[in-house]
Amino acid sequence: MKEHFINESYEKKINELINQMTLEEKIGQLIQIVPSLFGAFDETIAKLINGEISYDEFQKLDRNYHEDKIRGGVLGSMGGVTGAETSNRLQKIAVEESRLGIPLIFGLDVIHGYKTIFPIPLAEACSWDLEWMEKTAEIAAKEAAAAGIHWTFAPMVDISRDPRWGRVAEGSGEDTYLSSEIATARVKGFQGEDLTDAQRILACAKHFIGYGGAVGGRDYNTVDMSPQTLHEVYLPPFEAATNAGVGTFMSAFNDLNGVPCTASRYILTYLLRDKLGFNGFVVSDANSIAECVEHGYSRDRKEASRKALLAGLDMDMSQGTYLQDLPEQVENGDIPEASLDEAVRRVLRMKFNLGLFDNPYRTNQEIEKKSLLAPEHVQAAREMAKRSIVLLKNEHNTLPLKKKLNKVAVIGPLADNQRELLGTWAVTGDPNDVTTVLSGIEGAVHADTEVAYSKGCDVSDKEETDIDTALKVASDSDVIIAVVGENSDMSGEASSRMELDLPGRQEELLKALHQTGKPLVVVLINGRPLTIPWVAAHADAIVEAWQLGIQSGNAIADVLFGDYNPSGKLAATFPYSVGQVPIYYNHPRTGRPASEVKFTSKYIDGPHEPLYPFGFGLSYTTFEYGNLNLSSSEFTKNEKAIISVDVTNSGNQSGEEIVQLYIADVIASRVRPVKELRGFKKIMLQPGECKSVKFELEMQDLGFYNEEMDYVIEPGLFKLYVGPNSKEGLEGEFNIIKQ
Ligand code: NOJ
Repeated sequence: MKEHFINESYEKKINELINQMTLEEKIGQLIQIVPSLFGAFDETIAKLINGEISYDEFQKLDRNYHEDKIRGGVLGSMGGVTGAETSNRLQKIAVEESRLGIPLIFGLDVIHGYKTIFPIPLAEACSWDLEWMEKTAEIAAKEAAAAGIHWTFAPMVDISRDPRWGRVAEGSGEDTYLSSEIATARVKGFQGEDLTDAQRILACAKHFIGYGGAVGGRDYNTVDMSPQTLHEVYLPPFEAATNAGVGTFMSAFNDLNGVPCTASRYILTYLLRDKLGFNGFVVSDANSIAECVEHGYSRDRKEASRKALLAGLDMDMSQGTYLQDLPEQVENGDIPEASLDEAVRRVLRMKFNLGLFDNPYRTNQEIEKKSLLAPEHVQAAREMAKRSIVLLKNEHNTLPLKKKLNKVAVIGPLADNQRELLGTWAVTGDPNDVTTVLSGIEGAVHADTEVAYSKGCDVSDKEETDIDTALKVASDSDVIIAVVGENSDMSGEASSRMELDLPGRQEELLKALHQTGKPLVVVLINGRPLTIPWVAAHADAIVEAWQLGIQSGNAIADVLFGDYNPSGKLAATFPYSVGQVPIYYNHPRTGRPASEVKFTSKYIDGPHEPLYPFGFGLSYTTFEYGNLNLSSSEFTKNEKAIISVDVTNSGNQSGEEIVQLYIADVIASRVRPVKELRGFKKIMLQPGECKSVKFELEMQDLGFYNEEMDYVIEPGLFKLYVGPNSKEGLEGEFNIIKQ
């Protein structure tokens, strides 16, 4: 969006500042340093690692080093600084002791909360609840801002079609439409309407671009994709973030079709600035400029830094390549000073837009104390967590459980655990703030109900088991609640997995528990879709609870005992087997769709279908769909269709349903997906209640990129599906006609 952030009076001030800046000061604005072990690329850290200095000496050196740089006006940003006191102390040096008094900008990975940790982003995505996602981002911003942070490295808007990739946990799943809507909500939540509001922080759309397409789902791996897939599948969430006014972008670690994103002019200038119209600034990922050398794309760090700057990469995160390698190249004319000035301008522009020049100290310790873990934030964490849960199976209405029972057996390595429920990227969270599943259940049941616990086995350790004790605890219970899954470090960055099953001996534990003949409710705590065909076939109920943050236990108990009727729907397909991966619902049509016939597209040793499809999730009530209606059967490409459907709660409790609209372009000049999500509505229905749900579908949005990369909306037949998930629903059709 061209108009974002451009303000005449700021631009004037920026030019005045740039005219006064020395080369060193200019380059300083493009440096982000992390004054802690997170920095991992600092020279003092090398000394610490080599045992040349003690940790105390390291801290002193580290602090002096950074303070000197701030005082010298040659440091523009810091990562990893937390706390109102520290950030204000450092800011004071920048504003009062440096020559030009340019304020610092403090950035941090505030991914799903600061102290009040919310569900991991993938879990939140399963709520399809944009208002709530906006709200949790707003609270995260509020707490982070109170702790002196101006800028979060979120939202991650990478599409991920491969659950082996650990970072699926951090995104919104596999669908472009849903992810784009969520990107908008999260950017709005973090940034609000006015960036000068001291309770908001700058957002960062990352990782630009294609990071989720890593070959084999292996983090940091190469990415090779057609321009059409790039534009149709991976780009739209970034476009949505830009349109929502996101202030910064982060470049991706990976190469895209052979060029590292960090140094790609096509990506950072053509796609991002010319096509999307973004005019905030771009930060590299940690060390990604220097890694152009390892990619074999640059001879040395010098060349890497030149290529990155000229490509449009403004700020260098954490390794100081710009610091060391730009000055000489600007001095000798290899880098035009105007290019450097442009990067500096973009960084200063965001500092002005944040209001940092007028109000450099946006918080104090009192605000901080009041804000962190404020009761309304904790309450919101419970609300969001409930909404993120997906009920995958509920045979014979096993759930909800009665609160008054003789004995509930709570078994499993994640039942009495706090840390693992925080999920990935929760460095500022405190495990002590987490309600365990066990304590959530204890708090929910009737006083006369006995709750007995046994760990049974470890999450991943294959040696350590105590299945016998677990069986003893379970043998005289009314119901077994087994809490199993992944540790938090099994997903997230650098945590790709080859297998997607329950690690360690957890399935063995479940099989033994099943043998007791007691009703078996499996609660899954995990950061990605898992392959659990045995569980799907044998458990009586499956509650996909992900890693729900500090209110995990309470939210899970709310669902188990019926205080909340689950409403989440999967934002990512659950494969039957890892061999099916990548498996996603909106795949292009093949010439030989799977069937009983041998020579069709399928595996000979397992099902063709996934275990649970995209959009799937059950409720304690049932919904019926009827009366699918279209405003016309023909539209020109400038018109929009109004689609309505009646949804009735045919069960006997109130509940929310996420009504989903999919379309399929039946014949086109390029092979199109079998179907694609184009709308959704979340509605609440009382028992017996019927609501008419309306969608507006712009024909303009139904185009695609043809072979020549022109965006075209082709006349012809479209199918339309409205239903509870990507597999089921009512079917209709319409034509786009020539004008
Ligand atoms: C690397 C990650 O890829 C990125 O998402 C994160 O923001 C930075 N490190 C900073 O921690």
